[in-house]
Amino acid sequence: MGESILSTEPRAVRRYTTCGELRRQHIGRTVTLKGWVHRRRDHGRLIFLDLRDRYGITQVVANPAHSSAAHEVAEHVRAEYVLAVTGQVVARPEGTVNPALSTGEIEVLADQIEILNPAKTPPFPIAEETDVDESLRLEYRYLDLRRARLQRNLLLRHQVVRFIRQYLEERDFVEIETPMLIKSTPEGARDYVVPSRVFPGHFYALPQSPQQLKQLLMVAGFDRYYQIARCMRDEDLRADRQPEFTQIDLEMSFVDVEDVLELIEGLYTEMFERFASKPLQAKPFPRLTYEEAMRRYGSDKPDLRFGLEIHDVSSVFQNTSFGVFRSVLAEGGVIRGFAVPGFADATRSQLDQLTEIARSFGARGLVWLALQQDSGHLTARSPIAKFLNQGELDALAHCLQAGPGDLVLLVADAEGTAATILGRLRLHVGRERKLIDESVHAFCWVIDPPLFEWNEEEQRWEAMHHPFTSPRDEDLPLLDSDPSKVRAKAYDLVADGFELGTGSIRIHRREVQNKIFSIMGYDDTEIERRFGHLLRAFEYGAPPHGGMAPGLDRTIMILAGESSLREVIAFPKNQRAQDLMLGAPSPLDERQLRELHLRVVYPDGEATPSRA
Ligand code: AMO
Repeated sequence: MGESILSTEPRAVRRYTTCGELRRQHIGRTVTLKGWVHRRRDHGRLIFLDLRDRYGITQVVANPAHSSAAHEVAEHVRAEYVLAVTGQVVARPEGTVNPALSTGEIEVLADQIEILNPAKTPPFPIAEETDVDESLRLEYRYLDLRRARLQRNLLLRHQVVRFIRQYLEERDFVEIETPMLIKSTPEGARDYVVPSRVFPGHFYALPQSPQQLKQLLMVAGFDRYYQIARCMRDEDLRADRQPEFTQIDLEMSFVDVEDVLELIEGLYTEMFERFASKPLQAKPFPRLTYEEAMRRYGSDKPDLRFGLEIHDVSSVFQNTSFGVFRSVLAEGGVIRGFAVPGFADATRSQLDQLTEIARSFGARGLVWLALQQDSGHLTARSPIAKFLNQGELDALAHCLQAGPGDLVLLVADAEGTAATILGRLRLHVGRERKLIDESVHAFCWVIDPPLFEWNEEEQRWEAMHHPFTSPRDEDLPLLDSDPSKVRAKAYDLVADGFELGTGSIRIHRREVQNKIFSIMGYDDTEIERRFGHLLRAFEYGAPPHGGMAPGLDRTIMILAGESSLREVIAFPKNQRAQDLMLGAPSPLDERQLRELHLRVVYPDGEATPSRA
């Protein structure tokens, strides 16, 4: 383990010395160290013990000529034993100084070694950064947490949270806790629910976020609220999703979009300049409208650390003789694509593979053109070469800012489909061709998304962000005529291709909120049943308000350079939402079920709970 990242802080008062603090100037002192045996090396007469705690590692030497009692104990200790060692700080002999260790100039010559607790052989090595099966790591999380990587990540998390609190409190934010047992509301992910013992058949829901409560705190006049808020969502898990996660949840009164963006951009700029190991690619953060992000990057969370920008080339093919393109354009579709610099030498099998990948993303096909130069003219090796005249080829290259040596990839489809396929293909090629600049962090804002999206299955409009999001003022008239065109006062913060956080200015007027609900297909009784509490509050003087909730786990994941949230959460769930250490979820016994008025219907006629 390297230098503790907390070592610059004033030391807590304690009666022993930590394993990270002894230096050359302490030589001659008698100290007591407490910690875990990181490594033990038996050099015949001398036994070396690396003693470890959160603060570092100190080398202890047991020399029988100095203390036979200490040496005898040292003979018996093993890795991960917990020891108390008393001895003198001495200089390491010439040539044995370890510059990689903050305590590397000294060692402690043991007078006395006490075993505070022995340890079984751990199921995986603590001292080495070896790859260990993740299920085993999760089952023995307390041991995994002893290892340098997770110690580092969780200490970083602690420091970042402290920084966030300070930043927000300096700006008048008040931290207020909101309840965990709340009311189930539709929209968003599936709720985790808790049965009520007192009211048979009634359930609480665990909060997916404190969204409504923070809005109510604005109605209550707190002006600026924040909370390091726990959220629970029963959704399909991915590396960047946990069923339980934490948001930097905040809400402000009397603000507009610009105020929230400024606050959050300031927070993240300062945070990354302080805690990240890489610089920011651009300051201020670039802003893209949702429409622009989808058009240029095929994603609402574009990774700006590489180019491969997508362009619409439909106009080039207005009079094409290539049938597929002609019919897509006739159906109102588009032709879009991007150029991969220097990849004109792609082999047939590489191109087939790219086509396969595009198909797996939902493409009907992928058109490729390897651009070449032939006696001053641009030419293309391509299955559609024979359908292209020189003018079209030149125009295509011009649109895509491509030239000889580049590979052009094109998709023809309905606009939305073409955008997302190309977005995924762009990411794939960016990764595969190692075009992503891993030496920076690239932030951007994606703003003005549509307010609604069409739910094909339920044949109704639903809120793209959440139903309390305000439409843009100039788009209000479109609520009646064309809901699909209404843009929201909403914004997403994106970093390195991850959605870090989302937020919006909220609706604070009851009639607008009613209108949104009715567009979403809720009738008055349903609106009252589901949202009555919030709407009533808005009738008692609600200030205009808005806010945001960046995900803390994703923030730390990016800062720590990790690719899974599980590496920055002390006790995470696995991909099946299980806690392998605690063994959760688990069945309840009959008595508990009776008390909660519950009877379990097991799937597939099973009589007993299936193994989780
Ligand atoms: P939203 O649902 O977009 O917005 O969530 C905001 C941020 O929370 C994080 N996040 C998650 N992190 C880990 N695991 C998950 N399962 C998960 N789900 C979400 C992401 C995401 O960007 N109340 C609104 C915010 C607001 O409008 O103020 C909300 O919850 O980083």
